[in-house]
Amino acid sequence: MLNKVRERLLYVDDGDLRDQPSQIYHENSKVGRAFATFTRDETQTERMIADLLSSVQGNRGRYPYCPSVPLAERTEGNGISLRCALAARRSHRQVRDRPLSFEAFSSMLRGATEVTGKADITRTVSVPARSYPSAGGLYPIQVYAVVRTVTGLESGCYYLDADSGHLHRLGDTPSGDSMVGTFLGDANAGVAPAIIVLTAVLNRSTIKYGERAYRYCQIEAGHLGQNILLTALAHDIGAYPVGGFVESDIEDMLGVDGVEEIAVHSILLSDTSTD
Ligand SMILES: Cc1cc2nc3c(=O)[nH]c(=O)nc-3n(C[C@H](O)[C@H](O)[C@H](O)COP(=O)(O)O)c2cc1C
Repeated sequence: MLNKVRERLLYVDDGDLRDQPSQIYHENSKVGRAFATFTRDETQTERMIADLLSSVQGNRGRYPYCPSVPLAERTEGNGISLRCALAARRSHRQVRDRPLSFEAFSSMLRGATEVTGKADITRTVSVPARSYPSAGGLYPIQVYAVVRTVTGLESGCYYLDADSGHLHRLGDTPSGDSMVGTFLGDANAGVAPAIIVLTAVLNRSTIKYGERAYRYCQIEAGHLGQNILLTALAHDIGAYPVGGFVESDIEDMLGVDGVEEIAVHSILLSDTSTD
């Protein structure tokens, strides 16, 4: 039986896959010739890009009615080199019921997400750029933190406004038992001092890329996720990515609709400063 499964995985017959939703999606999200021809007209492209950027740009003010807390300033962390961080990164699943320091948590988030300069999208259009890349500079990926125990920060579900470096408190953190259920029985989810959730606001990207946007959102979440894993390591925060969670629970927790804004990825954090 196992051999048969292996054979099937290694020698997939195209015919078997032709009608799979993933294949149909892949076909329908390829870049078409029409777009390639259209983008050869620079003036037209500049105008189109300026228009669509102005309609979707920026995070600021998404939750102006929620209480907000500024992140603490960026620090050097433990000063680990990029080379050593890449060599040392491993999924850290020994989650202890210990609080994270607000300074380390803040500096990790700032390092992973903050605006670091400007990116030229066309000859005349530039956008505030962050420490991770984003297709078209549209930044559809949003960062939330489900905080249980971060010293000096009220527990709760927060939205990170990466432009201003503020956390907006949206509501309470669910109970530990409920979080374990949401994360498919992973006991760490009940005690982790904080869990980062990445969502995608699809319209920010579909407005330019159509069906292909879904692919770009997954790729961007990967770039941002790796930033978080590496900046966590640099601040003595253990981390591991978790793709398995009950999406509707996450949507309820964050107050997103699961259609226009969807949960994409998550990262469980833990304190390793005294290990
Ligand atoms: C997209 C994605 C989803 C993942 N989902 C889970 C998960 O649900 N639970 C878990 O314990 N680890 C999860 N991981 C972590 C992988 O199991 C882990 O990265 C892999 O075993 C390699 O180990 P390392 O991270 O220590 O190098 C996920 C990783 C990725 C990239």
